[in-house]
Amino acid sequence: MTVFKCGVALGIVLSSFKVCHRFRHYMYDMKYKVCAAMGKMLCCHGGQPALSWRSVLSRMSVQLCHGVQCCHGGQPGFAMAFSAFMRKGHWGVGEYLPERPDLLLCISPGALVLPGLSQWRLIMYRAADSRYEDMVYNRLGNSGLKLPAVSMGLWHNFGHQNSQEDMINILCYCFDHGITHFDLANNYGPEPGAAESNFGYILNRCFRPYRDELIISTKAGFDMWDGPYGDWGSRKYLLASLDQSLKRMDLEYVDIFYHHRMDPETDLEETMSALASAVHQGKALYAGLSNYDGPTLERATAILRELHTPFVINQNRYSILDRTIERNGLKEKAAELKKGIIAFSPLAQGLLSDRYLNGITADSRVLHDGRFLKESDVKEHHDVIVKLNNIARERGQSLAQMALSWVLRDGIVASVLVGVSRVSQIEDNLKAMSNTSFTDEELRAIDEACGSFIS
Ligand SMILES: NC(=O)c1ccc[n+]([C@@H]2O[C@H](COP(=O)([O-])OP(=O)(O)OC[C@H]3O[C@@H](n4cnc5c(N)ncnc54)[C@H](OP(=O)(O)O)[C@@H]3O)[C@@H](O)[C@H]2O)c1
Repeated sequence: MTVFKCGVALGIVLSSFKVCHRFRHYMYDMKYKVCAAMGKMLCCHGGQPALSWRSVLSRMSVQLCHGVQCCHGGQPGFAMAFSAFMRKGHWGVGEYLPERPDLLLCISPGALVLPGLSQWRLIMYRAADSRYEDMVYNRLGNSGLKLPAVSMGLWHNFGHQNSQEDMINILCYCFDHGITHFDLANNYGPEPGAAESNFGYILNRCFRPYRDELIISTKAGFDMWDGPYGDWGSRKYLLASLDQSLKRMDLEYVDIFYHHRMDPETDLEETMSALASAVHQGKALYAGLSNYDGPTLERATAILRELHTPFVINQNRYSILDRTIERNGLKEKAAELKKGIIAFSPLAQGLLSDRYLNGITADSRVLHDGRFLKESDVKEHHDVIVKLNNIARERGQSLAQMALSWVLRDGIVASVLVGVSRVSQIEDNLKAMSNTSFTDEELRAIDEACGSFIS
């Protein structure tokens, strides 16, 4: 008898799942029809795998969202994004549906169960209305393109081992504060490609409605895949790599496509013709060069001009500690040719901040992902950092702010390209813009503090 009762109960449960499943599909269909008939906004709900719950929500959304276009896009993982956004006081985007790129709003099922949110609540990532109020935008040479004085790079902290929740918080904070430029490369990770994949996910989740307000760049030039066609500057490598990057980021085009480093063996004309093709095929809007020196920049400029390719930007390492571009002619030549410069690693990967003033913590780049910044670098630079920190304090700045102000001091560098591992760092860095002038004594004191550590 007990076995019989269990069997009946199981049968009822299974068939109710089946009914719910059918009902759900019926409701999806109906909602899409409703969507098509209604205008204005798109809203969606989802996030919980419970079919019956979803089905109920489906029905309610159709009934309750008067004047709002509805569709369904529930994915597990929504709950995570929802809670992250709500905790940060953001509105969160629920879903992006490729077939509905105009998706803006979503309804969270969580709103039904969270205390204080008993009503249906429309939630979305809506960028701050104030996002353009405080940012300074600098023109790249004599081009039509302006970049924010502070740009955000995804070299570190956007790999597979990092939390997407943290990445979303950082990038949304950036955009909310006028950072319109996100910089990537094919090989950023780890694993190579991971940063682009993560960025593509976040773009779809949060920034799709804002694509035209963003400058997204990528690069090819370092080792990316096995064999002779995954490195350096051949046409074969650059164009294949750009296609891969676009796929990973789910983009039709990038705003800037860079050749990542000079190639001593490939004819410069071949490399530049690949950049020109990328632009002429509509896969990039502008061409850029990274890690080039002054004389090579001049030759490349002439070739790209002949190829009618809008080349607007040089991306080079530049900081209080690394002044290579002052020595190799890049800074002077770019200014003379009216080409822009964006300076990467302006904080020397964190050395030029308070990060290592009191030792090396477990969550720092050195211990977390020390591929390029070593414990020995920190030890060697400790005294210099302490001295620079004192100068920064006298200027009323944090060391990170002073380091960024220093790069921007003469107006030749359009943007400082920083990386961050948390929101508080970008918050700190943005304050650099409020004081970018230095007295001669301050500049002298900085040089003296660095001594022979300037490279
Ligand atoms: N073209 C190229 O060849 C090339 C090469 C390298 C980089 N880049 C680009 O440049 C971007 C930036 O490079 P980067 O990450 O080396 O830049 P960075 O700004 O010099 O260093 C970033 C690191 O500094 C620390 N930091 C940042 N702001 C801080 C603050 N206010 N207080 C304390 N610590 C702070 C963080 O370290 P923790 O992680 O320890 O917190 C952060 O990860 C890259 O993402 C990439 O887009 C380009």
